[in-house]
Amino acid sequence: MSAAPILEVRDLDLFYGDAAALEDVALDVGAGEIVAIIGANGAGKSSLIRTIHGIEKPRRGRILFKGQDIAGWPSHRVADLGIGQVAEGRQIFAGLTVEENLDVGGFLPRGRATRARNRDRVYALFPRLAERRGQHAGTMSGGEQQMLAIGRCLMGEPELIMFDEPSLGLAPAIVQEVFGIIEQLNRDGITVILVEQNVAVSLKLAGRAYVLENGRIVLSGTGQELLDHEGVRQAYLGM
Ligand SMILES: Nc1ncnc2c1ncn2[C@@H]1O[C@H](COP(=O)(O)OP(=O)(O)OP(=O)(O)O)[C@@H](O)[C@H]1O
Ligand SMILES: [Mg+2]
Repeated sequence: MSAAPILEVRDLDLFYGDAAALEDVALDVGAGEIVAIIGANGAGKSSLIRTIHGIEKPRRGRILFKGQDIAGWPSHRVADLGIGQVAEGRQIFAGLTVEENLDVGGFLPRGRATRARNRDRVYALFPRLAERRGQHAGTMSGGEQQMLAIGRCLMGEPELIMFDEPSLGLAPAIVQEVFGIIEQLNRDGITVILVEQNVAVSLKLAGRAYVLENGRIVLSGTGQELLDHEGVRQAYLGM
């Protein structure tokens, strides 16, 4: 990591009841990086994102965002500091229109004053959403709903976005489009944490990556180093 760290996680433990979901997790994300987190089902990837975002409370550890320890903060304060997340399963409001969903995303103090401008930006990035601004979100296709989830996140003007399985359940052409959007947002200056079942693609996209196994970071390196790593190839790339 060459850039200044925007996020530093240290000594992070998360428990669900008596069961440890994250143990002693440490990672760094540099400003402007794309960092991938890979791991098997149940490894703790979503738990890590949810803990960073304040949805789960860690038992121990520090989560430094631009040097400030946000561990244990409520999610809305984390979002208001500039950390966005696009959750697994997208979690849009099905009964609201496209535009109403975006307005919910623009409700944070952070994005409130600039809501109209941010909405225009989202519509420029996703013309399909502009065409369908009055449509109920629940009637949109899976790909459109993923675009909406990303758009809603952008309404909060995040500096860092954590994506949890953004390609899940999407057709290959749409998957390419979603990854293209993630790359474009990164080029525009947004730092990215990417959790993705599609390990080959995510390691190609990522500058660096971490491997999570049973709640612990067991390996890290550049995307290319992990693509070439024998253990990673066997466990996650089926080679
Ligand atoms: N709310 C919860 N209550 C209790 N246990 C949970 C909860 N959420 C997750 N777990 C458990 O924590 C562990 C890590 O789950 P998590 O969802 O973080 O894994 P993951 O790496 O995202 O998996 P997947 O690839 O299937 O999405 C699993 O054993 C899971 O059963
Ligand atoms: Mg998950």
